[in-house]
Amino acid sequence: MERLGRYPAATTVIAHVSDTHLLSGGAPLGGADTVAALAQTAAQLERLGASLDVIVVTGDVADLGEADAYARARAELDPLARATGAELVWVMGNHDERAAFRLGLLDEAPGGAPLDDPVHRVADVDGLRIIALDTTVPGYHHGELDARSLDWLARVLAEPAPRGTIIAMHHAPIATPLALMDVLELRGQDELAEVVRGRDVRLFLGGHLHYATHGAFAGIPVSVAGATAYTMDLSAPPRELVGIDGGRSFSLLHLFDGAFSASVVPLGPFDVVTSFGEGYLAELEAMAPAERLERFSRKPPT
Ligand SMILES: [Fe+2]
Ligand SMILES: [Fe+2]
Repeated sequence: MERLGRYPAATTVIAHVSDTHLLSGGAPLGGADTVAALAQTAAQLERLGASLDVIVVTGDVADLGEADAYARARAELDPLARATGAELVWVMGNHDERAAFRLGLLDEAPGGAPLDDPVHRVADVDGLRIIALDTTVPGYHHGELDARSLDWLARVLAEPAPRGTIIAMHHAPIATPLALMDVLELRGQDELAEVVRGRDVRLFLGGHLHYATHGAFAGIPVSVAGATAYTMDLSAPPRELVGIDGGRSFSLLHLFDGAFSASVVPLGPFDVVTSFGEGYLAELEAMAPAERLERFSRKPPT
């Protein structure tokens, strides 16, 4: 089919899910059914089928680091990864516990790594490098990249990847207007900027804030996904921190040659207002570009 648009199809589609905050036994979190929210996320993503390449979960998978919470997260996302053929990338958040995270999500043997060893990982998706960077500090909710983590990152980035690098981290290097989040933000950001400058990092992915937001750090785009558990309300009075039972979302990253987009997808279910099906699309695609333009773009006479 001859294309009309400026951009070719995306080379890579990444589902960016964050802050699921599951509890043992599937217990609700402040009245919110976090397991149902993750199940809904998986159901919506499964519609993408084989076009989905990666699922990145940027931390706070469990609210209290319980083994059963990790088992429930896998019960929802492992089948999605199998059904779509997508690679699943887990990132540590401040609500996670390293030992249970390693055992429950990464299938690492218990007692293998000391607790102060961060859970950094590197995934290769057809030449696209995705670094899961552990920004957590055991026993605390703020984030930090210490000299050891920064050295590790510098060593990984020393060699460029064929299709560049995405760094997925829970505490993203981005400014927030939320009150008190200065206490819980990422420390070591100036040093991080030094490490990533001039390397092949295309994008930072983050979570932790519980609302979708976008910015830039050291000249590199930052995309923070909203939470599936609950949403921080940025329309609350400036000196109040309010989490609401609504506005849940995940993000979809579409990578193109030399471009990308980060899109927020609201968590349903919703009633359908308008829809064009497979048959209509096939009919349009069979047309010559000029005919397609007339059929789909031309306004009816008023
Ligand atoms: Fe969170
Ligand atoms: Fe967090």
